[in-house]
Amino acid sequence: MSGGESQIEICPSILPADFSRLGAELETLEEAGADRIHWDIMDGNFVPNLTIGPDTVASCRKSVSLPFEAHLMVEDPDLLSPMFIEAGCDLIMVHVESVRHLDRTLNVILSSGAKAGVTLNPSTPIESISNVLHLVDQVLIMSVNPGFGGQKYLSSQEIKITRLKEMVNEQELSINIEIDGGINENTIAQATHAGANVFVAGSAIFNHPDGPGKAIHDLRKIASDA
Ligand code: DX5
Ligand code: ZN
Repeated sequence: MSGGESQIEICPSILPADFSRLGAELETLEEAGADRIHWDIMDGNFVPNLTIGPDTVASCRKSVSLPFEAHLMVEDPDLLSPMFIEAGCDLIMVHVESVRHLDRTLNVILSSGAKAGVTLNPSTPIESISNVLHLVDQVLIMSVNPGFGGQKYLSSQEIKITRLKEMVNEQELSINIEIDGGINENTIAQATHAGANVFVAGSAIFNHPDGPGKAIHDLRKIASDA
């Protein structure tokens, strides 16, 4: 599935947000210049953490007009994907490690009218997705082991991004390459050089001393200048 573009996009993760006022937090992120909202969905099984369900996403849908992407860190994405699409997510990203029949899983997402994406943990080889690239709008490369924010960026993932870009070009596709985990003003340039164009950031945005607007602005500028 082509449709990705190579423009720089900054996607705040909701993980560090104040969950008691999520709608207001999303409004702040929209005003701060975010391109999308990255919903970190964790089921306490695929990763050792538990976050939110589709009802919470649905309740926030009316707060902003930004696209919603769901990063499904769950054991059963076939069960949950339709719920998050119904809740208003435009893009569903499935971990390659969490499904037995990835081609079918992605086709079911596409048949519902949503965009499909695939996500790889740090230990998963990029070759594992070469036969489904034609189905996806985006590939998400984890630069941390999933489950928590605020972890150290794994530069070991950059070679995977570079190889992925080669695979995308070999197949003459147009796919967004997203990176997620430990992205901040010190790591986003090297991630850009490796070939990423979409960047998830949680702590770098929510913990910035000058607020999310400055954080997003600076991240975008560093990536654009890289
Ligand atoms: C981790 C999540 C990431 C994380 C990013 O499992 O998928 O999106 O929240 O947080 P930072 O940017 O703080 O590493
Ligand atoms: Zn994520």
